[in-house]
Amino acid sequence: MESTLRISIILVLLSLVFASSHVSSDKDFSQCETTVKSWVESSIFTGSKDDKLSLKDLLFFLHIPRTGGRSYFYCFLRKLYTSYQECPRSYDKLRFDPSKPNCRLMVTHDDYSLMSKLPKEQTSVVTVLRNPIDRLFSSYEFAIEVAARFLVHPNLTSATQMSRRIRPKSRGVSTLDIWPWKYLVPWMREDLFARRDARKSRKVVESEHHNNPYNMEEMIMPLRAFINHPVVHEIIHNGATFQIAGLTNNSYLEESHFIRHCVRTHPELGKFVLDVAKSRLDHMLYVGLTEDHKKSATMFANMVGAQVLSQSESLSLNFGQDAINITDPEDDESIQNQLNTNDQQQGEVPTPKSAKSTTKNMTVQKLMDEYEVCISNLRKSQSTRRTFSLRWIAPANFSKEARLMVPEDILQQILSLNSLDVELYKYAQNIFLQQQKHLLQTAENFFNRQQKNASVEAERLKQVCQDLYHCISWKMILLGITVLLIIGVVILVLTARRRTSKLKV
Ligand SMILES: *[C@@H]1O[C@H](CO)[C@@H](O)[C@H](O)[C@H]1NC(C)=O
Ligand SMILES: *[C@@H]1O[C@H](CO)[C@@H](O)[C@H](O)[C@H]1NC(C)=O
Ligand SMILES: *[C@@H]1O[C@H](CO)[C@@H](O)[C@H](O)[C@H]1NC(C)=O
Ligand SMILES: *[C@@H]1O[C@H](CO)[C@@H](O)[C@H](O)[C@H]1NC(C)=O
Ligand SMILES: *[C@@H]1O[C@H](CO)[C@@H](O)[C@H](O)[C@H]1NC(C)=O
Ligand SMILES: *[C@@H]1O[C@H](CO)[C@@H](O)[C@H](O)[C@H]1NC(C)=O
Repeated sequence: MESTLRISIILVLLSLVFASSHVSSDKDFSQCETTVKSWVESSIFTGSKDDKLSLKDLLFFLHIPRTGGRSYFYCFLRKLYTSYQECPRSYDKLRFDPSKPNCRLMVTHDDYSLMSKLPKEQTSVVTVLRNPIDRLFSSYEFAIEVAARFLVHPNLTSATQMSRRIRPKSRGVSTLDIWPWKYLVPWMREDLFARRDARKSRKVVESEHHNNPYNMEEMIMPLRAFINHPVVHEIIHNGATFQIAGLTNNSYLEESHFIRHCVRTHPELGKFVLDVAKSRLDHMLYVGLTEDHKKSATMFANMVGAQVLSQSESLSLNFGQDAINITDPEDDESIQNQLNTNDQQQGEVPTPKSAKSTTKNMTVQKLMDEYEVCISNLRKSQSTRRTFSLRWIAPANFSKEARLMVPEDILQQILSLNSLDVELYKYAQNIFLQQQKHLLQTAENFFNRQQKNASVEAERLKQVCQDLYHCISWKMILLGITVLLIIGVVILVLTARRRTSKLKV
């Protein structure tokens, strides 16, 4: 009798617990839904898109980590803007500094919520997106690469103490100060040291028979463990969407953490965030794609570069050769210098030769030429640095070919963990095509107008020189103009055809 009673009491209690947990999760969902929806309402930009293509006073380069934004920064923007025009604290842990209200360039990993600190009506936003799988690989490899440099130290304690001691002296901004690396690198560093200590204490050199660097547990955190780690859930997965939505772990918006948590626990709310991100892309001055690198750069030079040049002309700014204090965020030369020079004179990070800023007589064509040189230097130094760092974790060595060894189920998991970014990337590809069409249209219109002008000019000349015998020379000039025009049109048509045939729809 008593046992039956006990059982029924337990049953009642259990059902109560179950019901209340159900109710609380329902409540949690509706609270989430309300918050997310009211955030959407306050975020969807209702202004017109008509003037989005003209550059405003301030250019905000929203740099999503591992999309190659650094090459735009060094090889375009540093040539177009003087350091005086750059907003202070770009890329800095100290965050936005409003002490320079008239600055014209802001390049940062901060998310879109930074707009709440900027003059919204006078700000143009540009960004670059990357295929989510490649971005994830790159984040994994870069976190390991930077962390591996610390393996020069005998133990974790000495590595962290050393970097803490040196950093304040170095004027350059270190990767360790910059979101998201300020979380990812120390985390990875700890992991690397733990694995090295484990290897030492085992004292047997177990050779790993496979040569897949993405699964070398002895040396580094395997890719599978990386993508399932809470830190990566918090910071990397769907990171592009969250950054453009202004909802990263680094957001200025207070409720961003709650909303991010909501979207993770109730994936059906993700579409609201995605919609906001898409609408923001719609309003950007320029959207580039890491994969379409060459085309993206040309487009950037024409859509953004050309306008910066004419803007600075009209401002008749005096571009001198300012001394530039390069603070190279992602490449972290400063750390390497620290390690190499063993704590001697920590000056600022040396200015790469390619990053000299001269806007005197700059044209779009010259900008492109300089860009090519600059980016090839940048790539060389990047690859040297990478080889140097990865020596610490040999035989692990990353490469495009090695990526092919990663099993399909991991790739599928990455895609599903980044489903919002996958959608956003598709959307950006579409915007990219539109931009391309627009640019081509502009060029065509320009040449059509010139052609019309030329024929008007020809008529005028005919009348002017009807009875003059030295009209021969006029005719020669006219002939010259016509030939030049024909060459121009032919070039245009050829490029147009090449571009169109290259388009992958
Ligand atoms: C770490 O390395 C430093 C420098 O060699 C040494 O002084 C220190 O005792 C080491 N600490 C531990 C916990 O092994
Ligand atoms: C951001 O993420 C990191 C890593 O998970 C965490 O340590 C940090 O507390 C987070 N910051 C906020 C504001 O949530
Ligand atoms: C570069 O840094 C030095 C020392 O901090 C400073 O005096 C100088 O004004 C900086 N130059 C520019 C262009 O910011
Ligand atoms: C820039 O152009 C002006 C004339 O437009 C010329 O006098 C000057 O030498 C040029 N400077 C450079 C560096 O090419
Ligand atoms: C890693 O691979 C690159 C080429 O992909 C090579 O240049 C480098 O020497 C390799 N590093 C090691 C430690 O094997
Ligand atoms: C055509 O001529 C007009 C007036 O002569 C001028 O304003 C315009 O800029 C010219 N257009 C082109 C494309 O050269």
